[in-house]
Amino acid sequence: MKSKILTLLRERADYVSGQELCETFGVSRTAVWKAIKKLQEEGYQIDAVNNKGYRIVEAQEEHFGQYELDSRMETKWAGKPLFFFDEIDSTNVRAKLAAEEGGTHGTLFVADKQTAGRGRRGRAWDSPAGTNIYFTILLRPTFRPNQASMLTPIVAMAMVRAMREEAGAELADKIGIKWPNDVIVNGKKVCGILTEMSTEPDSIQYVVIGVGINVGKMVFPEELADKAISMEEYLGRKVNRSQFLPKVMKAFEELYEVFVTTGDLSGLKEEYEAALVNKGKQVRVLDPKGEFDGVAVGITKEGELLVEKSDGSVINIYAGEVSVRGIYGYV
Ligand code: BTN
Repeated sequence: MKSKILTLLRERADYVSGQELCETFGVSRTAVWKAIKKLQEEGYQIDAVNNKGYRIVEAQEEHFGQYELDSRMETKWAGKPLFFFDEIDSTNVRAKLAAEEGGTHGTLFVADKQTAGRGRRGRAWDSPAGTNIYFTILLRPTFRPNQASMLTPIVAMAMVRAMREEAGAELADKIGIKWPNDVIVNGKKVCGILTEMSTEPDSIQYVVIGVGINVGKMVFPEELADKAISMEEYLGRKVNRSQFLPKVMKAFEELYEVFVTTGDLSGLKEEYEAALVNKGKQVRVLDPKGEFDGVAVGITKEGELLVEKSDGSVINIYAGEVSVRGIYGYV
């Protein structure tokens, strides 16, 4: 109820009577008063005036927490329910535990800080407090395990949609995807995605997709300095994490629903290719069976990269086997 009160007070931006709150949420005046008190304790400035009711004073500083995120989520299922942690080992670890205990499709785990954040290939993911977004969404897809590789690109697309919305038209075209799923700003990586799953031979038990978004300005370690960027560094202004994360969830839910209607990327291919920073560029395919160069021309509906060699032949590159990099650098 606290997050619903927040939403209502924010929408109204004026006094809302205690009576109206009681009627809207079907609770007593004491319950309303207690909820308001709790929100005030959480740092919300809510004026309470006799005969007028309650009014929220929108703060300049961001509230990154349970009620704020709940109250801003505009989805049907993605991010519902949501569990927020000031500090946790890893949201992926937490999501997997919840999955084993029957957690439902769409459940979201968000942390302000991770003490054991995990990256791909067994690496650690630096997760300091107060600056970035770390989240994991739990999914229970009904499609087959071989289709799950398309989920990570969909999350990358959701990130691109949300970041373009946040950036505005002027800066939007610098945001894209390096195949298969690196979200790129100005040629540098702005977020990492770690997808893990548990499968039966023919079905998926669960998938957890963890995303770490570089939001606040960071001093990256030397080896990452020319490969990583944060949203604030790029935009040159603060980003409100509680407003941004619901945009990612909304975009993800929409994209996921298009994906499940066909079970492939046919409905999303055009948008993906428009965001693909490698498109039309020379790439080097790092195939263990032999490296070769070519031009990235697009993707298949299964998400494979199409690379045209100098002899005109087009090769399908499957993400699991090989990686691709630009001839002149990371992209
Ligand atoms: C990568 O190596 O690029 C993937 C990094 C994924 C990091 C995120 S942060 C939230 C979630 N919890 C984790 O422990 N890892 C993922």
